[in-house]
This record gives sequence, structure tokens and C-alpha cells, in this order.
Amino acid sequence: MKITVIGSGYVGLVAGTCFAEIGHDVVCVDNDPRKIEALKQGQVPIYEPGLDALVKKNHETGRLNFTADLADALNGAHAAFIAVGTPPRPTDGHADMKYVYAVAREISEKATGDLVVVNKSTVPVGTGDEVEQILLKAHRPFKLAVVSNPEFLREGVAIDDFMRPDRVVIGSENDWAKKIVSAIYEVDGLAGANIVHTSRRSAELIKYAANAFLAMKITFINEIADLCEAVGGDIRHVANGVGLDSRIGSKFLNAGPGYGGSCFPKDTLALSKTARDHRVQLRTIETVIQVNDNRKRAMALRVLDACGGSVHGKTIAVLGLAFKADTDDMRDSPAIPVIQALQDFGATVRAYDPEAMENAAKIFHDVTFCEDAFSASNGADAVIVLTEWDQFKTIDLKQLKKQVAAPLVIDLRNVMPEDAVVAAGFEYWCIGRTGSTTSLQHSIAAE
Ligand code: UGA
Repeated sequence: MKITVIGSGYVGLVAGTCFAEIGHDVVCVDNDPRKIEALKQGQVPIYEPGLDALVKKNHETGRLNFTADLADALNGAHAAFIAVGTPPRPTDGHADMKYVYAVAREISEKATGDLVVVNKSTVPVGTGDEVEQILLKAHRPFKLAVVSNPEFLREGVAIDDFMRPDRVVIGSENDWAKKIVSAIYEVDGLAGANIVHTSRRSAELIKYAANAFLAMKITFINEIADLCEAVGGDIRHVANGVGLDSRIGSKFLNAGPGYGGSCFPKDTLALSKTARDHRVQLRTIETVIQVNDNRKRAMALRVLDACGGSVHGKTIAVLGLAFKADTDDMRDSPAIPVIQALQDFGATVRAYDPEAMENAAKIFHDVTFCEDAFSASNGADAVIVLTEWDQFKTIDLKQLKKQVAAPLVIDLRNVMPEDAVVAAGFEYWCIGRTGSTTSLQHSIAAE
């Protein structure tokens, strides 16, 4: 099949590259000519593990091409995927649809033959109808249909998620369009794709409902972590015991500093706004949004507690800035409010992230960015883990100890090897458990 993907950001670039990998002939389009030129040279503008190699491989075979010229990209295409951003409108939090509609208008002018327009961007329910109206208004002498095909890729493991999807959702009432989009996914390269056919509106809702449910699951376990701290439980054991119930499932039960990223915060907000516009109140989701927002800054208070009630004049080393591991994405990262609060409380912040420092430097002005975790920890009164990068889990603790001014680790992701951290002489604080662990407590517990 010949496929055009419009928008070469996280979603469009991963989807386009993977479509090429499973055998389709793909042209990725972006209105930023510099991005297109860089992609043609094999330079991938985002950090996504494995993506550069896959882009290079498929570009070399000729199955993956890049252009800033939409008319050129649409020539002979069977399907055009819209994968542009739908950021929250600053005024009211509704998803801003201007980019999607602008692309729809451009497609309506530049398409040259029968074309299925597939919406991959996360869009409020009813957007497919709007896009269809835009296309029909152009009165072109060929067939144009709109399908909703939401994406469920997680940053950091996006290629794997694409190649081994739990499901592929195809929302359309048009048999011809449905057949074309199904044929794109029903190929040998896509392991066990479970295709869900539904209406366009249901498909649009599936995407939001899935993200909102996952955000709710994380928020739930974060509140249970708070309760563990108050009553003397251990969230790691509680989450394990709860998650082994197959009706619940153990994924997305890692307590932490609150969810972030470009999707959950924006999509929960957009879903609650859509619901209110239809006189439905999603109280659970509205509460999730509020609890999660409050949680991020509250994390800084835990650092204060661990530091004896004040961080004024202290140096705090922050390990990890990205909203999660294996990405350079800083959008809505918990690191932002946590660091800002620590600075408000008078701390000096030194930070290190393996991939996100370039993006973080655009946000923070008074943070010292360091070349590695050891240099960030130099002279620190506390080391905080904010992103669960593998390299922090296996860090050389002896060397870390030599750097710090005070041996205190505050693990806001519960990923550090507690026994080893304590054995190395650190006081260890984590999420969802009362107080800290020190080597003295460890030896008492062992007796
Ligand atoms: C999320 C969804 O997981 C994808 O299915 C969806 O396609 C994507 O949004 C999207 O709508 O485009 P992503 O934002 O890349 O993917 O990241 P997640 O892995 O879902 O993590 C989101 C946030 O939740 C991160 O801040 C992460 O640290 C946090 N999280 C996740 C937890 O705090 N605990 C967990 O157990 C899991």
C-alpha cells in the first residue's frame, strides 16, 4: 500500500517508519523543511530507542521517504494518516484542533484520487465528522473517507508497541475505507494484531478512555502509597499483591511522583472537558487530574522531610529529568514542579539526565546541568531519583558516596537497589513506606 503520514513527530515518525518496516511504501510529511532535510540525512530529531536504525534501514531500501510537499506525498496514496499535535488550548484546556483541521483542508485541496484519511492524532469524539465535512465541502470528483485509528504507543518502547500491538482499533462506518485500513495492518510483519472494528466515534473514545483509565490506575496506586506511609505498609508489596489478581493486572501500578508526559495530562483534561460539554461529569477523571497535579509539588515536601525539615541553603542532586525513562521528553515531567518547589524552598539544584538535558535547559535557568550522575551529586546534601533510568539502578554506589556531602538517597521512583544503597552507607527514602532505612535498621531487622 502507498501511505502518506502527515506530521513527523513522535507518533507520525514512529508509525511511518514501522509502516515501511512491515512492507508499505511510505512518505512522511512535515511542514518544517529543516526536520525533513535532517531526516533525509538519517538524523532523527527525537530520542526513541531503535528509531534511528529503523529510519535509516527503510530510507535506504526506498520504502520510507520524507518531504515537505504534501501534494507530492499524496500522489497515488491509498491512505493519508494525520499525526499532528492536539495540544491543550491555553485558554480552556480543550484539545486544540487547529492543526488537524488545517491538514484536513490541505488534503481536500491536494488529493488527486480516491483516498482514505486516517486520523491517528488523539482527537475529541466527533472530530472525524468534522474532518469529513471539510473533505466533502471541497466537492472533489473522487472518493474521500475518514477513519479513526488511534495510536497506543508508549514513548521509549514505541517500536515494540507498534510491532506487537495489544490491539489495532479501526473506527469507520465505510466498508471501502475499513477494508483499506485493515489491509494496512493485516500483514505478516505485525505480530498477532488484534483488530477491533467499531464506529468512528467509539474509536475516538477508546483512545481517551484507555489513557484516562491508565492515569486513574497510577493515581490510585499513588494514593494507596500515601496510605501505606501513614499506616505502616509497603506499597511495593501492596501493589504486587493487588496486581497479581488477573482482573487488575500488575502493569501501571508503580507508585511514583505522579504521571506526566505529552499524553495523560492533556488527554484526561480534554476528556473531562468533552464530557462537560455533553452535560456529563466524569468525576473520577476530574479527581484524578487534581490529585495528580497536587502530587507533583507535594513530592518536594517529602524531600524536605527527608532533609530534616528544610532544604534552605542545601544542594540537591536530581537524577533524571525526563517524564519517564528512555525518552528525552520533558513535557509535563514531574521534575518541573519538583525542582521549582525545591528552588522556592531555597535549595540549589544540580541535575543529570542521560537524554533530556537539552530540553530541560529550555525550561530551567538556575539548574546546574552535569555530565553524569556523579558530577551532579558532587557536594550534594541529598540525591533524588526522579526518572527510572536503568543506569541509576546500577550506579556505582561507592563512587556516589565519595561525591556527596551527606549520604541521603530519596528514590521517588522506587527503583534503586535498597539493600545495596543502605549497605553503601546511605540513608534511603522511597515512596509508599514510612520513614527511611539506614544500615543500623537493616542490621536490627536481620537479627
Ligand atoms: C501513554 C500511553 O501509555 C500510550 O498507550 C499512549 O499511546 C500514549 O500515552 C499516547 O497517548 O500517545 P506515554 O505517555 O508514552 O504513553 O507514557 P507511559 O508509559 O504511559 O507513562 C505515562 C506517565 O505515567 C509517565 O510519567 C510514567 O512515569 C507514569 N507511570 C507509568 C507511573 O507513574 N507509574 C506506572 O506504573 C506507569
